Amino acid sequence: MKGWSLPTAAAVVAATIFFSLSTMALPAASAIVEHTFVVNQMNMTHLCKETLVTVVNGQVPGPTIEVTEGDSVTIHVVNKSPHNITIHWHGVKQRRNCWNDGVPMVTQCPIQPDQNFTYRFSVAGQEGTLWWHAHVSCLRATLHGAIIIRPRLGASSYPFPKPDREIPFIIGDWWAMDLAAVARRMKQDNFFDYFPSASTINGKLGDLFNCSGVAEDGFVLDVEPGKTYLLRIINTALFSEYFLKIAGHKFTVVASDANYVRPYTTDLVVIAPGETIDALVVADAAPGKYYMVAMPNQAPLPDTQTPEPSTRGMMQYSSSSRPGNGAPVAPVMPDQHDVVQSFYFHSNLSSLRHPRHPLAPVPKRVDEHLFITLGLGIACRRGLNCDREDEKENILVATMNNISFLQPTAPLLAAHYYHVGANKDELQELPDKPPKVFNFTDPSLIPIGPKEKALERTYVATLARWFRYGSVVEMVFQSTSIMQGDSNPMHLHGHDMFVLAQGLGNFDAAKDRARYNLVDPPLKNTVVVPNLGWVAIRFVADNPGVWYMHCHFEFHLSMGMTAVFIVEDGPTVNTSLPAPPVDFPSCGRKDNLVPDEFYLQTQEITASRIDGV
Ligand code: C2O
Repeated sequence: MKGWSLPTAAAVVAATIFFSLSTMALPAASAIVEHTFVVNQMNMTHLCKETLVTVVNGQVPGPTIEVTEGDSVTIHVVNKSPHNITIHWHGVKQRRNCWNDGVPMVTQCPIQPDQNFTYRFSVAGQEGTLWWHAHVSCLRATLHGAIIIRPRLGASSYPFPKPDREIPFIIGDWWAMDLAAVARRMKQDNFFDYFPSASTINGKLGDLFNCSGVAEDGFVLDVEPGKTYLLRIINTALFSEYFLKIAGHKFTVVASDANYVRPYTTDLVVIAPGETIDALVVADAAPGKYYMVAMPNQAPLPDTQTPEPSTRGMMQYSSSSRPGNGAPVAPVMPDQHDVVQSFYFHSNLSSLRHPRHPLAPVPKRVDEHLFITLGLGIACRRGLNCDREDEKENILVATMNNISFLQPTAPLLAAHYYHVGANKDELQELPDKPPKVFNFTDPSLIPIGPKEKALERTYVATLARWFRYGSVVEMVFQSTSIMQGDSNPMHLHGHDMFVLAQGLGNFDAAKDRARYNLVDPPLKNTVVVPNLGWVAIRFVADNPGVWYMHCHFEFHLSMGMTAVFIVEDGPTVNTSLPAPPVDFPSCGRKDNLVPDEFYLQTQEITASRIDGV
């Protein structure tokens, strides 16, 4: 792939003017919220083991960014770690601001060790809970934090009863192994013997884990009887979707992915990596101590089973903090294999209808229809026979429509903006549909065997799809059963998606389109495609730039379940992408950036080879 030229002097001047004008144009009441994120390494000890981790400002989770709708955010990232770093502001719409989206080799060159970069973005038009994380394979397990956007008119303007307190509730996973090494291995071999060592709530492992009999510290929420608490729940984990319950209490879900939803009361919250759920909890039980349990779920047998540990914290009434009170009450958890609970939970979300928050109209006209299968597959090493039994000849990958994403060697956004380098010939267009129709959710394709073998061959390519400015895109994501029956939390950068319908089994256009909710579908930046099921979404491609679209399970993402959506400029300056920031990082030496996939086949194999004939 060719490089791209430096911005011209005119473009630099234009960028400077753009930034000064946009600062002047901000309404008087909005503030500029500024943080410095120093990324470095430190040792943390859990489960009797010291692990070197990469963190922001010496803390896990990292700092919370608290802002008011309409504010501007300035984050100075100082990279003192030995890793290339970018930070992504997950769910921030970044309107006409794709340069600040923080995806390495898609929107920017990463910030190299001992380099700095300042991210600038606005949170206009968004309220609720989002989060930030490093967009560097696996390192986000310890490089993440909450973004809380409050309404400009204050907490009394929430479209739900004003909570007495607001609490970030970050579910994560703790890895005792070196995550940089895990990241390398995910791309290089087929031995999957890496699993999280523990789950965490706000960075704490809790008393289900111990070191030589001494319980790990756990998260405690002190409550007063009758008061209301807003939990801002975020799943930052690499590995699992979680079931969350609090013994003796119910949640009222009021928002998800920084969009208000019709209040929905449940005793079980289900949250996939990338999602946020805001839920009210009223301290209306008998004073006492109640466990809050976060339990990873996983697909049942015959799927490969992995050790996935639960964590717990405690909700504790002030009147019960004296010693001698009764034993804490534990919630009754669903079975870890009861993954249909996720389908039920997510099907119950719909957008809020409220005088201050009019329903966003769902576009009726659709310009582009995509049907995208999600699954695993085998990519073959170049020039080898691709003998399935020989580990050195092939590698396990994750795919969309049977193609696995090949990381570009120069940032796509700059190439797109300057019309150089990675042009349409060097990218592969994400096809409208998979190459082959089969029973996508046939359980007998799980886990690895003769039947799925005929379907498992894939190849690698830098998958992209171009959209005219303003086009309305409808996508059906179909989870498949090739080798596994995982769900897939699909995240789109720079846009929210209307979730029109979801179902189990194979999508059937004739029957399922009739079930679309075109009135009050929830708006999400991360949609959960159920295990052996599908989701239909619509979005308006009205934010020019190059946007990552991927599964938020880290291993699916690292293995290539990714594409980029390139939204073309509109007809005016206000519908076009401005010039890049003047101090944008450059990529430096390229020779250590050539990804392993370059040794994989990049060509479609012939149909006869797919069929194994
Ligand atoms: Cu939260 Cu592309 O990620």
